[in-house]
Amino acid sequence: MTFDVLWLSRADIDSLGLTMREIMDVVEEGFAAMGRGEVEMPAKIGIHTRTDCFNHSMPCYVSGTLDLAGVKVVSGYPPNQKKGLPYISGIWTLIDPETGLVRSVMDAGWITAWRTGAASGVYARHFGNPETKSVCIIGLGVQGHMNLRAMLEVFPNIEEVRMFDPVAAQAARFQTNMQPLAPGARFLDCDTPREAVANADVVITCTPIVEKPERFVKAEWLKPEVLAIAVDYDSAFDAETMSGAACFTTDSETQYLWTQDHGTYFQTGYPAKAGLHSDMGEICAGKKAGLRTGRRAAVLMGIALDDVMTGHLIYEKALEKKTGTWVQL
Ligand SMILES: NC(=O)c1ccc[n+]([C@@H]2O[C@H](COP(=O)([O-])OP(=O)(O)OC[C@H]3O[C@@H](n4cnc5c(N)ncnc54)[C@H](O)[C@@H]3O)[C@@H](O)[C@H]2O)c1
Repeated sequence: MTFDVLWLSRADIDSLGLTMREIMDVVEEGFAAMGRGEVEMPAKIGIHTRTDCFNHSMPCYVSGTLDLAGVKVVSGYPPNQKKGLPYISGIWTLIDPETGLVRSVMDAGWITAWRTGAASGVYARHFGNPETKSVCIIGLGVQGHMNLRAMLEVFPNIEEVRMFDPVAAQAARFQTNMQPLAPGARFLDCDTPREAVANADVVITCTPIVEKPERFVKAEWLKPEVLAIAVDYDSAFDAETMSGAACFTTDSETQYLWTQDHGTYFQTGYPAKAGLHSDMGEICAGKKAGLRTGRRAAVLMGIALDDVMTGHLIYEKALEKKTGTWVQL
């Protein structure tokens, strides 16, 4: 017996015209479901075919009224930058929760790019200072772009974008791509991470995740009133940035502690269970409130829940717009 599956390429997804605000809204809805205890989501499992490279499998089921399921298979390969290939690539499958049949297979590079920026945006909605004027992005690749996009959604008064990337061409490319979204903002290409973070209201690190992190962004360089977001696990911010923060938040407490317990990431000084203020489930379900003063720090690892919420939105939009290619399995 065969059945129909909707194949959605990156170009198909691009053509749907989804906005960062729409993705933030569904990611926030997913976090709220997690806070209500409606999410089944084991921590990522993976294989590692080369140093600092991963292939993860990320399943998630959201029960309750959402009733959504999916699995992502995703790779992250830092050496790809030099080969002109994407760091992040993969596929995401939408699964029918009633029958287990695959309903759709789609590009996971797009999903990962957008839902990760969106998760930072949702965190900033709850912990950011609405008067934020200066945002610093360290690592100006895909995530640098997406995270700035999300900050522009949350903070309408951004006047300055401070940039750092050791690869010389990245800052100019970043500014060319992002200036149209922030026409009034000044873009500053900084020579060092220290110069980049100086006086920034928000600092986001989007550098390659490595097994032996240098943690080269120091808490002492940050201003006291700052939102510090790590998209790259514990690669860039030093332990004090997180452990000495007024509040430390993750996207999923369970997954953060599981990852820490398994010994590679969040070691040597990163907060343990007692140092956690909240996870995004508790915040978005209204069980805890965000803070808006002092150094507020977060590690947003990226969880399968973000993919399910975003992938389902894409699927619904694609059906509505009759986009994609039906194939038979
Ligand atoms: N948390 C999540 O949900 C999530 C999701 C996707 C990607 N990521 C992670 O985000 C990071 C960036 O991913 P991407 O897709 O943007 O990759 P990318 O290759 O597009 O961009 C990485 C950028 O970092 C720069 N860089 C390298 N070393 C640096 C350093 N020491 N200081 C500053 N910049 C440096 C590179 O030149 C490049 O511009 C990776 O670690 C990736 O695993 C996290």
